[in-house]
Amino acid sequence: MGYSILSIAYLLASVTFIVGLKMLSNPAAARKGNWVAALGMGIAIFATIFLYKEDGKPLSNYGWIFGGLLIGTVVGTLAAKKVKMTAMPQMVSLFNGMGGACAALISVIEFEHVMQFDANLAKLLIILPGLIIGSVSFSGSMIAWGKLDGRIKDFAFRGQHIFNLVLLFAILAASVYLYMNLGNDSMLLFMMILLLSLSYGVFFVMPIGGADMPVVISLLNSFTGVAAACGGFLYDNKAMLTGGILVGAAGTLLTILMCKAMNRSLTNVLIGSFGGNSVVGGGQQVQGGVSKEISLSDAAVVMSYANKVMIVPGYGLAVAQAQHACHDLEKLLTEKGVEVKYAIHPVAGRMPGHMNVLLAEADVSYERLIEMEQANEEFPSTDVVLILGANDVVNPAAKSDPASPIYGMPVLDVELAKTIIVNKRSMKPGYAGIENELFYRPKTSMLFGDAKKVLQDLITEIKTL
Ligand code: TAP
Repeated sequence: MGYSILSIAYLLASVTFIVGLKMLSNPAAARKGNWVAALGMGIAIFATIFLYKEDGKPLSNYGWIFGGLLIGTVVGTLAAKKVKMTAMPQMVSLFNGMGGACAALISVIEFEHVMQFDANLAKLLIILPGLIIGSVSFSGSMIAWGKLDGRIKDFAFRGQHIFNLVLLFAILAASVYLYMNLGNDSMLLFMMILLLSLSYGVFFVMPIGGADMPVVISLLNSFTGVAAACGGFLYDNKAMLTGGILVGAAGTLLTILMCKAMNRSLTNVLIGSFGGNSVVGGGQQVQGGVSKEISLSDAAVVMSYANKVMIVPGYGLAVAQAQHACHDLEKLLTEKGVEVKYAIHPVAGRMPGHMNVLLAEADVSYERLIEMEQANEEFPSTDVVLILGANDVVNPAAKSDPASPIYGMPVLDVELAKTIIVNKRSMKPGYAGIENELFYRPKTSMLFGDAKKVLQDLITEIKTL
C-alpha cells in the first residue's frame, strides 16, 4: 500500500515538474510555475522519507535526513533572499554545481554497495556516467561561478584543447577498464576516475571567456540533469528520473537557443571566438566617425512631446541597477500621454530573460514588454528610441557587415525610428568587443552617464517642463 501511494506521489511530482516548467515560459505565470514545481519536489522528498521501504523496513536515519534538510533550507533561503539581480548567474552556477556534486556522491555510495554486495555490472553502467558527468558539472560550475564573480581569471595554455581531449579519453578508457575488470581492488581506479573528471571540469571551463559563462552554465545544467537522471535509473525513482530528464532537455534546448540568438555555434562558444577578454578580429571599424551628444533638457523635451517612445534595455541597465528609475520615467511619460513600450532582445543582458526579470523586479507591466519581432514592426511608427546600456543588440553591423563577428545575429532595427537616444557611459564597445556604427548615424544622439543617474536627472527635467 505504502509503495503504491509512493508511486502516485512520484507521478504527481513528475506532473508538477512538467506543468511548472511550462508555466515558466510565460513571465506572468513564471513565479507560480516555480511554486508548483517546488511543491512537487516537496511531495517527492517527504513521500520518500516517510513511505520508502528498504527490504520491507522504513527509513530510520531521520536525524541525518532532517539535519541535512534543515541546513539546506536555511542556506538556500538566505542565499536566494540576499542575492542581487546582477549576481543571479553566479547563484544558478553554484546551485547547479551542488546538483552535480549530489549526483557524483550518489555514484560513490552506490559503487561501494556494488563492491560490497553484488558486483552488479548493469548498475555500474549507470554509476560511472553519473560519477563522470556529475563531477564535471560540479567542478565546471565552481569555476564558472568564480569567473562570473570576478574571482577567477580566464586561463588557457597552448594545446589546451588537445590536452582536454586526452583527459577525456583517459577517463573513458579507465571507465571501460574498470567495467571489464571489476574486482576487490577497483576502488582506487574509481577514485582516479573521480579525480580525472573533476580536473576535466576545471580545464574545460578555464579557457572560456567569462562573458560566455551563461551558455556554459546552461550546458553544465543539462549535464547535471543527465547525472540526476542516472540516479533515477539507479534507484528506479520515477520523480528523480523525470526531473533529471527535464533539466537535461531544458538545459540543452536553452544552450542551443542562446547560441542561435547570438548566431554562434556551440563549438565556437566552447573554443572561444569572441566574448570575455578575447581579442576580436574582423568587423567594421568606425574610424574617424563623429558622434553627437544631446543634453538632458533636450532629451527630456524630445521624449515628452513624442507620441510613442520605445525603451531598449541592455546589460548596462542591469549594471547600473536602473530598473526602478526606468519604470519611474515610463510612468511619468505615460502620464503625459506618451505611449511607452520596451523592446526586449532575446540575449540582451547576460542571461536568458535577464531584462524581463530585471524589469519585473521594478513592477513594469508585462504587457509593455514586446519581443524583438514585434518591436521591429513597430520601430517605423516610433518617435523616440531610448537605448539604455544596450550595444550589441542594436548594432546594424549584424545585418550589413559579413566580416563582423556578430554578422547574422538578429538585432533590433532601432534605426527605423525617427530619433535614437543612446545612454551609456562612454564610446567603449559591449560584450562582443566591436564598435557600433549606429552611434555615428545622423539620427543618433549620445546621452552619456551612468544609466541610473541619467534617468533620475531626466525625470527631474521632465517634471520641470
Ligand atoms: P552589451 O553589448 O554588452 O553592451 C552593454 C553596454 O552597456 C556597454 O557598451 C556599456 O558601455 C554600457 N554600460 C555598462 N555599464 C553601464 C552603466 N552603468 N550605465 C549605462 N551604460 C552602461 O549589452 P547588450 O546590448 O545587452 O548585449 C548583450 C550581449 O551579451 C550580446 O552580445 C549577447 O550575445 C551577449 N550574451 C548574452 C547572453 C544572454 S542569454 N543574455 C548570454 C551570453 C552572452 P559603457 O561601458 O560605455 O558604459
